[in-house]
Amino acid sequence: MSASHAVWQGAGRRIHLQEVGLRDGLQMEATFVPTADKIALCNALSATGVAKIEVTSFTSPTAIPALKDAEIVMREITRRPGTIYAALVPNLRGAERAIESRTDELNLVMSVSSTHNIANLRMTQEQSFAALAQVIAMAQGANVAVNVSLSCVFGCPMEGDVPEAQVFDWVQRFVDQGVRGITLCDTTGMAFPTQVHQLTASARARWPGVEFTLHFHNTRGMGLANVLAAIDAGADRFDASLGGLGGCPYAPGASGNVCSEEIVHALALMGYDTGVDLARLVAAAQQLPVLIGHDIPSQIAKAGPRLALHSVPADFDAIRERALSR
Ligand code: COA
Ligand code: ZN
Repeated sequence: MSASHAVWQGAGRRIHLQEVGLRDGLQMEATFVPTADKIALCNALSATGVAKIEVTSFTSPTAIPALKDAEIVMREITRRPGTIYAALVPNLRGAERAIESRTDELNLVMSVSSTHNIANLRMTQEQSFAALAQVIAMAQGANVAVNVSLSCVFGCPMEGDVPEAQVFDWVQRFVDQGVRGITLCDTTGMAFPTQVHQLTASARARWPGVEFTLHFHNTRGMGLANVLAAIDAGADRFDASLGGLGGCPYAPGASGNVCSEEIVHALALMGYDTGVDLARLVAAAQQLPVLIGHDIPSQIAKAGPRLALHSVPADFDAIRERALSR
C-alpha cells in the first residue's frame, strides 16, 4: 500500500481529539451561557473520553464577555483522570488567573499575521512574543504545561497568504523557549487539503520532537478534508468543537470549528481510534441549541450516524406487492 493511501485505513491508529467548544465555541456567542451550564457541559464532555478539553479562556472580560466566569468554571468542573483541562491565555494576567484556578495546560495564543495579531490581541507580534515568553517562564516555574496556538497559519482574512517561512520562524522562536506543543490554526477556514498536507509534513519533519495539533474551521466546507489530509501527513491531534460552534470575534468572516461529532463519526468508520463515545458526544451536542438559543451546524446531530436506520414507509407491503405483480 502506498503511503498516499494510508489515510483510508485507520487500522486502530490513535487520534487525539481535543474539544474546544467551551472556549472557541462559546467565545463568539451573543447569549451568555450560565456558569452552571458550562460546568455541566464540561462534565458531560469529560464523560465522552476526549483527550483534552479547552475549558475557557482567561482573557479580558471586556474582550470576551462570554467567558468572564473562567475562574469559577475551571475550579468547579469534575476532573476525569487522564483528561487534560486547558485554557487559552493571552498575557501574564491571564496566566496568573489560569494557574491559580488549577489549569493543567496554558494554551498561549498569537497570530503569524501581524494584522490579525493587532486586531485580536491589541499588541504587535513582538509585544505578544515578549509577553508570552514571560508567561512561558512563569508556567515552567509553576510546572504547568504550555501549548502555543498560532493563528492564521493557513491564511489571514485581512493579509491573505502568510509565507511558510514566516510561520516556521514563529514555531522556531517558541521551540527555542522550550515549548513542546504547537497548534497550527486555520482561524477562518482558509486551509485546503494539499496545502495542509504539505505544511503538516514539513513541520513534522523539521521538529520531530514537537507535538503538533491541527485546528481547522469549516468556514468553506473543507474541514473534514483538511483533517484527513493532515492525518495522511502524520498528524494525530486535532482540535474540534461540539456542535461545530466556534470562531474568533476579531477575525472577519470567522465561523465554526470542525465539528467534534462529525470528526469522531467519520474517523471511527475509517478505523481510527479516538477513544470518544459518539452517542454521548451527540447527546451533549443536542443540548447546545437550548443553551445558545439557535441551531448548530452539526450534520451528525441532525442526521444521526450512518447506520441509524429508518423504518420503511407505512404502506411498504402494499407498494412491494404492486411492484412484484407487475
Ligand atoms: N484577564 C483579565 N483582565 C485582563 C486581562 C486578562 N487576561 N488582560 C487585561 N485585562 C484587563 C486589564 O486589567 C485592564 O482592566 P482595567 O481597564 O479595568 O484596568 C483591561 O483588561 C485592559 O488591559 P490592557 O492590558 O490594556 O489590555 P487590552 O485592552 O490591550 O487587551 C488583551 C489585550 C490581550 C487582554 C485582550 O485583547 C484580550 O483578552 N484578547 C483576547 C482575544 C481572544 O480571546 N480572541 C479569541 C481567541 S483567539
Ligand atoms: Zn479557532
